[in-house]
Amino acid sequence: MALVHLIYVSRAVAIPSMDAIVTLLDGAREHNRRMGLSGILCFGNGCYLQILEGAPVVVNRLFRRIMADPRHEDVSLLEYREVPQRHFADWHMGYGPHASQGQSEEAFTPYRFSPEEALVYLQRVAAHLQPEAQLAP
Ligand SMILES: Cc1cc2nc3c(=O)[nH]c(=O)nc-3n(C[C@H](O)[C@H](O)[C@H](O)COP(=O)(O)O)c2cc1C
Repeated sequence: MALVHLIYVSRAVAIPSMDAIVTLLDGAREHNRRMGLSGILCFGNGCYLQILEGAPVVVNRLFRRIMADPRHEDVSLLEYREVPQRHFADWHMGYGPHASQGQSEEAFTPYRFSPEEALVYLQRVAAHLQPEAQLAP
């Protein structure tokens, strides 16, 4: 079965509270588990960076919903391509706030990332996350 990954950046319309992030992740993880999706979500400096991995139809359908989500705007696709395997199979949606990378918030400028830089960043975030450490966003 074909596997794709999709990487995008967006801007939060308002800085989400921890409760808002937990609510978002709860819904996302439940849906993603059911649909065989994996990935990582980062937030910092008012911006989201997310990678979704899964079957093309499932990824496409979710991305349409994500683009229409009023919690963020300026959704910009960085990369969509077929991949031979998942990089983030351990997470239905891992969460890595930029601050957890030990850098200042302002240093997070994902709109400037090339697709390659985004993937490297996401892999670095994942390296600091426990597999399925999904209760402590
Ligand atoms: C930054 C961001 C990332 C999201 N990631 C996911 C995700 O990985 N999986 C998911 O099911 N929903 C995710 N959502 C929520 C969807 O946009 C949407 O609210 C959810 O799929 C419910 O869709 P519906 O309201 O059309 O039923 C995300 C929302 C935002 C703002």
